[in-house]
Amino acid sequence: MQSWLAVEITSADIILNTLILTRPDDLHLHLRDDEQMKAVLPDTVRRFARAIVMPNLNPPVLTTEIALKYSQRILAAIPANMRMHFEPLMTLYLTDNTEIAEIIKAKASGIIHGIKFYPARITTFSDAGVTDIAKCSAVLETMEQENMPLLVHGEVNDLEVDVFDREKIFIDRVLIPITHRFPGLKIIFEHITTKEAVEFIKDTPGNIGATITAHHLLLNRNAMFQGGIRPHFYCLPVLKRETHHIALIEAAISGNPKFFLGTDSAPHSRDAKESNCGCAGIYTSHAAIELYAEVFEQAGALEKLEAFASYFGADFYGLPRNKGSITLIKESWDVPMELKFGREALVPFCAGRSITWKILD
Ligand code: NCD
Ligand code: ZN
Repeated sequence: MQSWLAVEITSADIILNTLILTRPDDLHLHLRDDEQMKAVLPDTVRRFARAIVMPNLNPPVLTTEIALKYSQRILAAIPANMRMHFEPLMTLYLTDNTEIAEIIKAKASGIIHGIKFYPARITTFSDAGVTDIAKCSAVLETMEQENMPLLVHGEVNDLEVDVFDREKIFIDRVLIPITHRFPGLKIIFEHITTKEAVEFIKDTPGNIGATITAHHLLLNRNAMFQGGIRPHFYCLPVLKRETHHIALIEAAISGNPKFFLGTDSAPHSRDAKESNCGCAGIYTSHAAIELYAEVFEQAGALEKLEAFASYFGADFYGLPRNKGSITLIKESWDVPMELKFGREALVPFCAGRSITWKILD
C-alpha cells in the first residue's frame, strides 16, 4: 500500500490532515512480563503488526522453549477487544555458553528471528551477557550458516571508556572484526546513536542494518540536564551531542533501506527511574509512530516515513510486508503524566506535553 503522500505534499492532503501508512513493525521492543507486560502491550498492538521482542527478562530468554512460552504469554495478554492481529517476533539471549544446538533448534522453530548480543553488564538485565565475543565464534558461524540474525547492543563494556564513546569504540573493537570474520552473518546494529555508527552502516556492504529510536531522533544529550537531572531521558546507549542527533535524522530520512524503525521502548517503574541509581530505559510505545511522524514532518520528509517504519525492517529480516494500515491525523493530544505499570506507575516519554499526531482506531 502506498502512503497518501507522493513526493510532494498537495494542498488537498494538508486539508485532510491524514496520514495513512502500511501498518508498521517495531524492530526493537522491551515488553517485560506478567502484569507489567499487560500494561504496556496494548500500546504496541494498537500501532504495530509485529515487534522484535527483546529477551532481557530476569532470568533471560535463553532457549527456544522459554521463548515459545513467553510468546504464548504475550499473545494471551492482548486484550480481547483489540481486534488487530499482532505477531511477537521472538529472540534469544546470547551468553558465553549458548550452544550450537540451541541455534539450530531456534532456526527450526520458525518463531525465533534473532539472537541478542548484550556485552555483559552493559545495560538493564545484561548480567548474563557475553564477556568476550570470541567465546561465541562457533555459535556465530552456525548463525551465519543458518541465516539467523545477530542483534547487537553496540557498546563496549569497558569502564575505562567514556560513556559517550562506547558505541564508537565498539565499532572498531568488536563489530568490524565480526563483519570480517563472518561476512555472511546478518547483523542488526541496534538503537544507533552516533554519526560513526551511521557512517559505518552506510559504508559496510551487505548484511548489516540498524534500528533508530524515536527518542534519539528527537533529543540530544542536553535533554538529560535541562534545569536539573532528568532521569526519564536516561537510556542506553545514552543520548549524544547535537552533531550525532543530526546524523541520525539524516540517516532515518535518507531512504537508505539499511536504517529502519526500532523504538527500544523500555518501560521501568517511576521508582526504578527516580532513584539513587536509576535504570536506563525510555518508554515510547504509547506514542511511538506519532513521535516518528513528528520527526519526519519537522525534517520535511513525511513521505519517507512509510518505508522507514513499514518496509525496510521487514525486508531486512526477510519478512513479508504487512497488508493492513494505520491512520494518523494531525490533531494535538496530551500525554498523561503517568501510566499504570502493573502495581506501579511509569512516566511515559513526553509526559505532560502534547503530541501533534494522533492515531485513529
Ligand atoms: C533497555 C531496558 O531497559 O531493557 N534499556 C535501555 O536504556 N535501552 C535495555 C537496552 O536496550 O539497552
Ligand atoms: Zn533495548
